[in-house]
Amino acid sequence: MKTVLITGANRGLGLEFAKQYQLDEWEVIACCRNPDDVPELLESGVSVSQLNLLDFEAINRFAETLKGKPIDLLINNAGIHDRSKEEGFLGIETERWIDGFKVNAMAPVLLTQALVDNLSASENPVAATIGSQAGCLTLYDSGGLYLYRTSKAAAHSATVILSNDLKTLGIPYVCLRPGHTKTDMGGSDAPYEIDESVRMMRQTLAKVDISQTGCFIDRTGELIPWNMEKDLNI
Ligand SMILES: NC(=O)c1ccc[n+]([C@@H]2O[C@H](COP(=O)([O-])OP(=O)(O)OC[C@H]3O[C@@H](n4cnc5c(N)ncnc54)[C@H](OP(=O)(O)O)[C@@H]3O)[C@@H](O)[C@H]2O)c1
Repeated sequence: MKTVLITGANRGLGLEFAKQYQLDEWEVIACCRNPDDVPELLESGVSVSQLNLLDFEAINRFAETLKGKPIDLLINNAGIHDRSKEEGFLGIETERWIDGFKVNAMAPVLLTQALVDNLSASENPVAATIGSQAGCLTLYDSGGLYLYRTSKAAAHSATVILSNDLKTLGIPYVCLRPGHTKTDMGGSDAPYEIDESVRMMRQTLAKVDISQTGCFIDRTGELIPWNMEKDLNI
């Protein structure tokens, strides 16, 4: 039985990842801030762990509880982007911006670092951050959205750096693009349903190997250039 660890597993893409992997008979370690948010997962036998990614010490304490357990797939999915609160140039809220950096850019690196022995213990480990074209500098033709755009750009940068550190250990690390999907973050006008985006990302993750490490990969499996010139608009 393979094991997957997913952050932000109480709603949106993270919850759907947890449900689909469980249906496929993976062992699922679902991390979320409040385990009471996901009675359906608890009832279905998924292991739900409390983890607030703003608390970096908690990341290490949590990893201690998994000592010796192989992890085949790590999905750094949790993210912060609240459209209703997104600030323009004159409305930046510094504390929220810092939290965005912590959760979107720093926590994926720190959680991966804390779980590196668990990934190494797998025969075919894969780890991923969920990225976004909002993090692509070459597409910036407007102002605003400082929190999300700067922190996702940092998350992309961290993916490449981390992939180099993990290469010698044989652990591929990629950045996956889900496409604009109907979640709280994506909004109800998004073109893609959650189950479809997650199904496609799972198919893509299943094919990731070390030759793709450090890449930005669309849910379709297509490689996306880091300096993409055209909004995929999907
Ligand atoms: N939906 C899209 O169109 C889209 C497109 C491109 C990329 N993405 C990326 O896909 C990922 C998932 O997005 P989504 O659409 O599913 O968003 P979502 O519905 O807003 O869910 C975000 C998840 O992140 C969790 N999270 C936020 N802060 C956290 C913290 N401090 N500690 C632990 N968990 C925390 C949330 O938990 P709480 O409920 O506790 O807040 C929630 O489970 C994100 O990285 C996002 O940037 C999404």
